[in-house]
Amino acid sequence: TPVPEFDFVLFGATGDLATRKLLPSLVRREAEGVLPPRGRIICVGRRPVGTEEFVKQALRPAADLDEATLDRFRSRVRYLAMDVTDPRGHAELAALLGDTPAVRVFFLAVGPNLFAPICARLAEAGSVTPASRVVLEKPIGHDLASSREINDAVGRAFAEEQVYRIDHYLGKETVQNLMVLRFANTLFERPWSAADIDHVQITCAETLGVEGRGDYYEHSGALRDMVQNHMLQLLCLVAMEPPTALEKDSVRDEKLKVLKAIRPIQDGAVQAVTVRGQYGPGAIDGAPVGGYLADIGAAESDTETFVALKAEIRNFRWSGVPFYLRTGKRLPSRCSEIIVSFKPPRHSIFPDAAGTPAANQLVIRLQPDEGISQLTTMKAPGSGRMVLMPASLRLSFGEDGGRVPEAYERLLTDVIRGDATLFMRRDEVEASWRWVEPILEGWRAQGQRPLRYAAGTWGPSAAIALIERDGRSWHETE
Ligand code: BG6
Repeated sequence: TPVPEFDFVLFGATGDLATRKLLPSLVRREAEGVLPPRGRIICVGRRPVGTEEFVKQALRPAADLDEATLDRFRSRVRYLAMDVTDPRGHAELAALLGDTPAVRVFFLAVGPNLFAPICARLAEAGSVTPASRVVLEKPIGHDLASSREINDAVGRAFAEEQVYRIDHYLGKETVQNLMVLRFANTLFERPWSAADIDHVQITCAETLGVEGRGDYYEHSGALRDMVQNHMLQLLCLVAMEPPTALEKDSVRDEKLKVLKAIRPIQDGAVQAVTVRGQYGPGAIDGAPVGGYLADIGAAESDTETFVALKAEIRNFRWSGVPFYLRTGKRLPSRCSEIIVSFKPPRHSIFPDAAGTPAANQLVIRLQPDEGISQLTTMKAPGSGRMVLMPASLRLSFGEDGGRVPEAYERLLTDVIRGDATLFMRRDEVEASWRWVEPILEGWRAQGQRPLRYAAGTWGPSAAIALIERDGRSWHETE
């Protein structure tokens, strides 16, 4: 479906997310000719700069694009400096928006404490039309109660169908491909259960530290920052039952069922199946880097920058299959992947063969080098005795399919089109918080402080022990 006429209002337009991801993604969409001739982009920020200056900055990362594209984009943009909690600014915005039936998107790339006031002011100023949508960036609260409060407040200005809760992982090419892989291929969906799968691993590793985001991160930590949203969403897509259609509520209903089926980790289990870590000084790619405390300029902190945990899904399909999750900052490589590890064949007819047979593994690589590979066991070529060897079948999207788009490119136009399939519904966000909360509570109650790991290593050794205790090991990323 073509993108309809729109007014896209970007709050937090001079912020990190807008500058690094949102504006560049809109420019890419412009270059692809996806945006309709009438579509305004109204950028709202606190900083008093003129539109021209703002656009110049915004287009810096797009310097490789042709002049015609840049011109078209420039003519859409208008910068509005205002205090987003002040009715006067909102009156000005309302006047600028005018009275049009065009789709109206309010993208809130601001802290969650501003979600409620912005929505209230938008409604008071009469800016919310039936064709309006609001996009909320994470974090939607810091626990169940605060996320409910935000959802209630947003719900006073917008109907649930108008609320788009973004999780940019759902816009990643390989994540969408996961659904195609599972549900368009007999080969994969048949053995997709405890009968044939031994365990699943999900790793989201970053080499970056906390960068300039200490203020936010100190109140968040890795569990809230990555697990509550991105990693649970990935787990849902791996584990959910086939939705009846690729349609928003079918998909979201199935994800919700998974979230409700994950066994709560609480009380004594918290210490047994979760590991918290915090990076200390170390080296990334041979270059020395400081520790978390130095990065945030504090003498001490209880915030985790690494989490590993073992989850279980209590349902017919997955009973007995552990899902190991780990994520961290300042790990040795930037790599996000899902590994589905299959059980060995029930009976081996090659007991005397040399070599190492590999357990079948499906490696779904989200980044970098988006692609899917399948680890199989093959016969080593040669006419001597039977030798088994691991062999990998690979499909790389980067090489085969051209440029891999940024997650936001797809999601932003989905909002304008009104397709909420890749966005989270209120009950999903709340179910995720409900699952995460007892872990936070357990850490607090037991005074489980983060274990120190050196930057550039795979987290505290307890994370390795967590999986090795079960006779398994973390997949070695390439
Ligand atoms: C964000 C987190 O949601 O995701 C960041 O707040 C993290 O801390 C980022 O770095 C990771 O996203 P990506 O797309 O780089 O894997």
